[in-house]
Amino acid sequence: MANVTFSAPTLEKDVTVYAVAGDNKTLLGVAKQNNIAIPCQCQDGECGSCLIKVTILDDRAPHGIHLTDKEKLTLSVNGKMTKAQLDNTETNDMPPPYRLACQYIVRDENILVEFSGEPGVE
Ligand code: FES
Repeated sequence: MANVTFSAPTLEKDVTVYAVAGDNKTLLGVAKQNNIAIPCQCQDGECGSCLIKVTILDDRAPHGIHLTDKEKLTLSVNGKMTKAQLDNTETNDMPPPYRLACQYIVRDENILVEFSGEPGVE
């Protein structure tokens, strides 16, 4: 289980939901299931409209994860992943703070998810 807290100007207040880690549901899927509207268009990692900022709330180090090539490319071309963050992702599997909700698989981590409600704007 993981606590996922969504925070956005479009929400009356922050919303925390429990997500089942390991069921392969994306963060976008968790948001939809809980009637939280994160902008999304392609739902396939290509448009960048579902941009979010993720903060790990646990004291332990973040879990390593392998980002898809699509997500790395979309974040890079939209200026949301620096070369150093790309290197850290590819070398150490350490995720950057900006992610795509349609590509983010929820894991056993408590996270804060911030988004603006505007497509592609964090
Ligand atoms: Fe297009 Fe996520 S909805 S990248």
